[in-house]
Amino acid sequence: MSFLSATLDRVKPSPTIAVSTKARELKAAGKDVIGLGAGEPDFDTPDNIKAAAKAAIDAGDTKYTAPDGTPALKDAICAKFKRDNGLEYTPAQISVGTGGKQILYNALMATLNPGDEVIIPAPYWVSYPDMVLLAGGEPVCVEATAETDYKLTPAALEAAITDKTKWFIFNSPSNPTGAAYTRAELKALTDVLVKYPHVWVMTDDMYEHLVYDGFEFCTPAEVEPALYDRTLTCNGVSKAYAMTGWRIGYAGGPEKLIAAMRKIQSQSTSNPSSISQAAAVEALNGTQDFIPANNEVFKRRRDMVVEMLNAAEGISCPKPEGAFYVYPSIEGCIGKTSPGGVKIENDEVFATALLEEKGVAVVFGAAFGLSPCFRVSYATSDENLKEACTRIQGFCASLN
Ligand SMILES: Cc1ncc(COP(=O)(O)O)c(C=O)c1O
Repeated sequence: MSFLSATLDRVKPSPTIAVSTKARELKAAGKDVIGLGAGEPDFDTPDNIKAAAKAAIDAGDTKYTAPDGTPALKDAICAKFKRDNGLEYTPAQISVGTGGKQILYNALMATLNPGDEVIIPAPYWVSYPDMVLLAGGEPVCVEATAETDYKLTPAALEAAITDKTKWFIFNSPSNPTGAAYTRAELKALTDVLVKYPHVWVMTDDMYEHLVYDGFEFCTPAEVEPALYDRTLTCNGVSKAYAMTGWRIGYAGGPEKLIAAMRKIQSQSTSNPSSISQAAAVEALNGTQDFIPANNEVFKRRRDMVVEMLNAAEGISCPKPEGAFYVYPSIEGCIGKTSPGGVKIENDEVFATALLEEKGVAVVFGAAFGLSPCFRVSYATSDENLKEACTRIQGFCASLN
C-alpha cells in the first residue's frame, strides 16, 4: 500500500515557485542573480491598510470569524462589485478565502466529478490545470498564440466545448501574458457561452486594476448578464493592493455554489485570518489613489522591457495591456548554441542557460502551456530590469 495519495501523481509542484527558489539559492551562494520570476508587486502594502490591521489587533479582532468572511468584508466586497463592475451581489453570494488561490480551489473541489472537463486557455496561470487535476477533473487546454495576441478566439472556445465541459476558466489581464480582452473581444466569447447553458464561467479578475494606456477592464457577467447565474467572479487584494502575504481572495456567484464552497472551507482552513480581513475592508473601502500611481510605474517598466526585449536577437515580444508580465517568444533562438555549449532545444533549456550563464531568472513557457517562450515579471526595480534585459540581449547575441 502506498503511503502517499495517488492524487499526488496527477500534479506537479508550482514551477514559478521552483524558479524563485532556485534564484534565491544561487543568490545565497553569492551569485549575482536578478530574479524576474516573482508574481507579486515590489511595492509595500499601503499605510492605511497596515493601520487597519494594527487597529484590528488592538481591538481584539483576533478570533475565528464566519468561515467565508466577516459581514464587514462581505459588505465591502458587494460595494466593490457594484462600484467597479456594475454587478449586484448580496452578502450570501460572497465567499472570502485565504487568497484568490483558495477561492478557485474551493470552487473546483465543490463542483468537479471524475470526467468533468475544464477549458483553460493556454498560456495559463500555472495552478489552473493542477487544481483541476487535484479536484478530479480533466483540464482541456486550448492554445491562444501570439498571432491572436495570446487571446482565445470564439471558434477555438466553441470547438473545445463538449457535453462534459463544466467550467471555462477566463483570466484577463492574464498571468503569464498580460493580455487583456476588450469588451468586444470578451463579448465574442460570451456569445458562444450563452449557447451552452451547461458551461459555467470561472473568471479570475485578479489583475483587474493593473491596466495601462486607458484600457477599460470588463468581466463576463457584466458584459453578458445572461451568464450571471452561472458565473463565479473571482478577485482578491493580493496584486492591486500589494497584499500577497495577507492571503485574502474573494468571489461573487450563485448562492448554491457559494454555500458549497463554504462547506469545504469550514472543514479545511475554517476562515481567512481575522486581521487580514480587517485590512482587506480598508483596502476596498479606503482610498484607491495609489493604484494609478503604481500603474504609472508599471507602465513605464513594461514599455522599457518590451523595447529592450524586442531589440534582442531572436526574441519577439508583444506589448500587453495589463498585469506585470510580458511573454516574449524565443522562436529565433531555438537550435542555436550558447557560449557555455548548451544547445537551445526548447524554452526550459533557454531559461536554465540564461540563469546559469547570465544570472537572470525567468520562467520558461512550457510551464504555462505555450512554447517556445518565457515569462518576465517586471515587478522589480527599473535598474534591475535594465540590467536584466541588457544581459538577455547579450545572451541572445552570443548564441550561434
Ligand atoms: C491569475 C492569478 N490568479 C490567482 C492568483 C492567486 O492569488 P492569491 O495570491 O490571492 O492567492 C494569482 C497569483 O499569482 C494569479 O496570477
